[in-house]
Amino acid sequence: MSAIEYKIGNNLELETVIELYRKSTLGERRPVDNRSVMESMIRNANLVVTAWSEGTLVGIARSVTDFAYVAYLADLAVHQDYQHRGIGTELIAQTRDALKSTCFLTLLSAPKANEFYPKIGFDSHPRAWVMEPRQDPKVHESQS
Ligand SMILES: CC(C)(COP(=O)(O)OP(=O)(O)OC[C@H]1O[C@@H](n2cnc3c(N)ncnc32)[C@H](O)[C@@H]1OP(=O)(O)O)[C@@H](O)C(=O)NCCC(=O)NCCS
Repeated sequence: MSAIEYKIGNNLELETVIELYRKSTLGERRPVDNRSVMESMIRNANLVVTAWSEGTLVGIARSVTDFAYVAYLADLAVHQDYQHRGIGTELIAQTRDALKSTCFLTLLSAPKANEFYPKIGFDSHPRAWVMEPRQDPKVHESQS
């Protein structure tokens, strides 16, 4: 397989990103059918690292951050055909490289990836808390 190229930036086609979410299986847990939410997720993320193989998007690490104190890694996804080749690890390494050395990196793991994060240096946190949205993001505005 050819070398993987990594880029930083969120100037990405919505359809291309949605396709990757589906191909990685993360699409099962993200609102891929709600285009306005997906569009907002991409346009408002301020640290997006992507992995490319011969022009095909094969991985993404999408974070929201102040760059100095904390970054929230909202999505990490690697195309199923490209998993277990070190791409997820490299996407996180490049995310960290873009942050100041004073910056925490935090995330909520998908069930399938829960065993992945300790392997690459994350510690679990017993006091993480979540407030559910008022409306299911998977439901289209027109349906609600
Ligand atoms: C989780 C995911 C991003 C990992 O990406 P990847 O490119 O396959 O990971 P890497 O190749 O860098 O793997 C690094 C190590 O973690 C292991 N690993 C990879 N995926 C794993 C998983 N889901 N569970 C446990 N270990 C995993 C690899 O075997 C490797 O270990 P090794 O060095 O001992 O061989 C990718 O599998 C994925 O996109 N999964 C579906 C979407 C998802 O769940 N995303 C996470 C949302 S929080």
